[in-house]
Amino acid sequence: MELNGIIFDLDGVLVHTDEFHYQAWKQLADRLCIPFDRQVNNRLRGVSRMASLEIILEAADRSFSDEEKLAMAEEKNAAYRKLLETMSPKDVSDEVVETLSKLKERGIRLAIGSSSKNAGFILKQTGLDIWMDAVSDGNNITRSKPDPQVFLMAADMLTLPPAQCAVVEDATAGIDAALAGGFLAVGIGDAAGYDRTDKPLSTFSDLLSIL
Ligand code: BG6
Ligand code: MG
Repeated sequence: MELNGIIFDLDGVLVHTDEFHYQAWKQLADRLCIPFDRQVNNRLRGVSRMASLEIILEAADRSFSDEEKLAMAEEKNAAYRKLLETMSPKDVSDEVVETLSKLKERGIRLAIGSSSKNAGFILKQTGLDIWMDAVSDGNNITRSKPDPQVFLMAADMLTLPPAQCAVVEDATAGIDAALAGGFLAVGIGDAAGYDRTDKPLSTFSDLLSIL
């Protein structure tokens, strides 16, 4: 396979902001007395903010108006942004930086394909922005993963066909999106154990040997 581009999911792949998402949702769920644990949290990986809220509210014993839901999503996002403000380049592992650097040396173009509307802020806070040739995120899409839109737009920005790109994901919804778009689907973390994943990674730097 001729591989010229790699599109990375952000939360849970390049940085551990998946933990911050969990903490911010947990704070909201506890206040509303809605049961929420890490197993439910895994279902939120790759899913948009409002769709994530709907999944959490499945366990609520009453229904909520659209206004109430919007207020909840804003409350969660404010708590999440507070956690993001504490981030710096120290939150990116040496392994991630060294791997991105080696991929660049090989002439591979790198992009972000994230459902998050906070992706730009995270990339700036952590200094990851300097490695990326393109950023496709929650601000330029109308359909969330498992729809392939976010990855197709990233490939388009790289001016590469999907068949020449790999997608690296921690979400099963992201693996489904990658496959639907015709990309090689590489899974890490939760997605490494998913049976649809083309190439599972046990650690991020494995990317250098499997491609
Ligand atoms: C994805 C996360 O990257 O972004 C999801 O995996 C999250 O858990 C989604 O819901 C949307 O994030 P944000 O920052 O726009 O609320
Ligand atoms: Mg993710």
